[in-house]
Amino acid sequence: MNYRHGYHAGNFADVVKHIALVAILQHLKKKDAAFAVLDSHAGRGRYDLGGEEAGKTGEAKSGIARLSGLSGPMPEALATYLSLARQTHAYPGSPLIAAQLLRNQDRLTAIEKHPEEFAILKDVLAPFRGAAAENADGYARSLKLLPPPARRGLVLMDPPFESPGEFAALARGVREAYAKFATGILLAWYPVKSEAEAKAFTGEVLSGGIAKALVIDTRITAPEGRLGRAGLLVVNPPYGLAAAIQDAARVVANRLEAAITVQWVAGSE
Ligand SMILES: C[S@@+](CC[C@H](N)C(=O)[O-])C[C@H]1O[C@@H](n2cnc3c(N)ncnc32)[C@H](O)[C@@H]1O
Repeated sequence: MNYRHGYHAGNFADVVKHIALVAILQHLKKKDAAFAVLDSHAGRGRYDLGGEEAGKTGEAKSGIARLSGLSGPMPEALATYLSLARQTHAYPGSPLIAAQLLRNQDRLTAIEKHPEEFAILKDVLAPFRGAAAENADGYARSLKLLPPPARRGLVLMDPPFESPGEFAALARGVREAYAKFATGILLAWYPVKSEAEAKAFTGEVLSGGIAKALVIDTRITAPEGRLGRAGLLVVNPPYGLAAAIQDAARVVANRLEAAITVQWVAGSE
């Protein structure tokens, strides 16, 4: 477990992933009924972009830093994401973004395996009554927690991809989560190093009988040796989500000089 998200926090992939996360939570908040968020690979929750790790890669410079001058009217998911990022005085990871958007009735369980990252996560989430951090294996623990008592919500799976078996583990994780929580929204992040590998992954997930899913694909021109393309698979995207993400993506793509596509891979609206 050498991966530290601090080296990548606020990069192009984080920006798009976190805007999708905000858009999903905004959708869930349209109804008063409680929802649950399960973040299986949560990270530490808050990243100092002026710190050593971020400084070494400079990835945030081609990500969140490019959005710093944005102001005025903008798509709702983007506006909320930026206001959370600006309030944090550091870059907020997925569990902190989710925690900040919870209402009294909603719950977040954020799972992180690395002991040092977990210790920070626990402190970061401590002020939020509805949020809990757990030190465990994200795939195994999230399955135990599904379906959530609220019976509506989101499972985010964002593993580090430091081992060759991660695509298979993530595909199995999403399928097993779907089997236990077929009405839930599932959001899975993956690096795209080859089109064939990405297609094989989505194909493997969808062969589990999932009827509605979309893929958000983001590409930038990255320096040699750095990741330049990432995907997000959204299972059970709620009505209007594709449009909400597309609206935000248009603005972000301009600023990041990225190509962002939102495409249905199973079913449609
Ligand atoms: C890509 S980062 C998560 C970033 C976070 N979701 C965000 O968007 O801010 C992946 C995290 O998973 C953790 N991790 C690695 N293996 C794990 C496992 N088996 N279960 C849970 N967490 C794990 C790593 O320590 C790392 O913090």
